[in-house]
Amino acid sequence: MMDKDFALRLKNISFSYKKNDPAVEGEHTINDFSLEVEKGSFTTLLGPSGCGKTTLLRLISGFLEPQQGEIELDGVNQKGIEPNKRKIGMVFQDYALFPHMKVRQNIEFGLKLKKESKADVELKISQVAETLNLEDLLERYPEELSGGQQQRVALARALVLNPQILLMDEPLSSLDAKLREHVREELRAVQQKLKITTVYVTHDQEEALSLSDKIAVINKGKLLQYGTPRDLYFKPQDNFTADFVGRANFVNINGEQFIIRPEWFELNKSEQKGDIEGIVQSASFLGDKTRFIIKVQASDNIITADLFTLETNYLEPGSLVSLNIKHKWKN
Ligand SMILES: Nc1ncnc2c1ncn2[C@@H]1O[C@H](COP(=O)(O)OP(=O)(O)OP(=O)(O)O)[C@@H](O)[C@H]1O
Ligand SMILES: [Mg+2]
Repeated sequence: MMDKDFALRLKNISFSYKKNDPAVEGEHTINDFSLEVEKGSFTTLLGPSGCGKTTLLRLISGFLEPQQGEIELDGVNQKGIEPNKRKIGMVFQDYALFPHMKVRQNIEFGLKLKKESKADVELKISQVAETLNLEDLLERYPEELSGGQQQRVALARALVLNPQILLMDEPLSSLDAKLREHVREELRAVQQKLKITTVYVTHDQEEALSLSDKIAVINKGKLLQYGTPRDLYFKPQDNFTADFVGRANFVNINGEQFIIRPEWFELNKSEQKGDIEGIVQSASFLGDKTRFIIKVQASDNIITADLFTLETNYLEPGSLVSLNIKHKWKN
């Protein structure tokens, strides 16, 4: 693939907040980090709090400069290019809307800084308002909007500047669970409609799995795995990724460690012994499935198994259970 198919390339980036302190190997905030983001794709940076996600966005947008490595946007090395000269749109966790300005003024703010003509500004605002369903809200103040509407205004404010790439830092985290799911679907629809390259930050694995073309799993400033949601779920490269993206059991079978997702078990209904015999410790009803915590008899290990509720209603805590393994993965 030619270079220009990537909207963004990070090449062996290292960064430490202690600038004058030649950071000891392994102590950088961002550590020898490389990533290639395809044009038009939705890529998520996923990792626990403090792993360096926001730092990476600050590096991409130019508010921080890496001590080592290169950042390319559309094939152009960004070294020395000021943040406001990079064609990047940012949406922050708290949206950072101007409270004393109406929606219209919030959206046109960046265009005015760029001294665009009045006619251009009006055309662009009406286009973005239509795309994001904001036409009826342009004359309201941010405090008169719901969380999801504010989120759309923040998105409009970034998109109206026609960025090459959109960076979003946990934009849904201040919404309640139900609205979050709804806005998440909207966001994905807008991204697919506009085909804008998006780099999205979250520590929520479900959000990452449902939104992304590709996910970069990060821990302690290092890239652990970069792949499609399915890759990460079915072929995690290490135990951290296996456990962070979905739930994982680490099960020893004949001296080898396998990863088994809770739903990769099934009840053994035959007369023969199953792959795993255990005792139910607890059961939580999840609707279609019930989640069982099971103590494995042979090893005393604890595993989690999600089994179809209709087949398992007799499995009270303390009872024996026999399981077969439908699928397992070894990295
Ligand atoms: N301005 C700063 N000066 C010094 N250290 C910082 C600064 N900003 C962040 N850090 C540290 O760098 C590390 C990475 O922080 P960063 O904000 O990138 O994490 P994050 O992945 O975005 O976390 P979260 O999910 O909590 O937002 C953390 O250990 C943090 O304490
Ligand atoms: Mg952060």
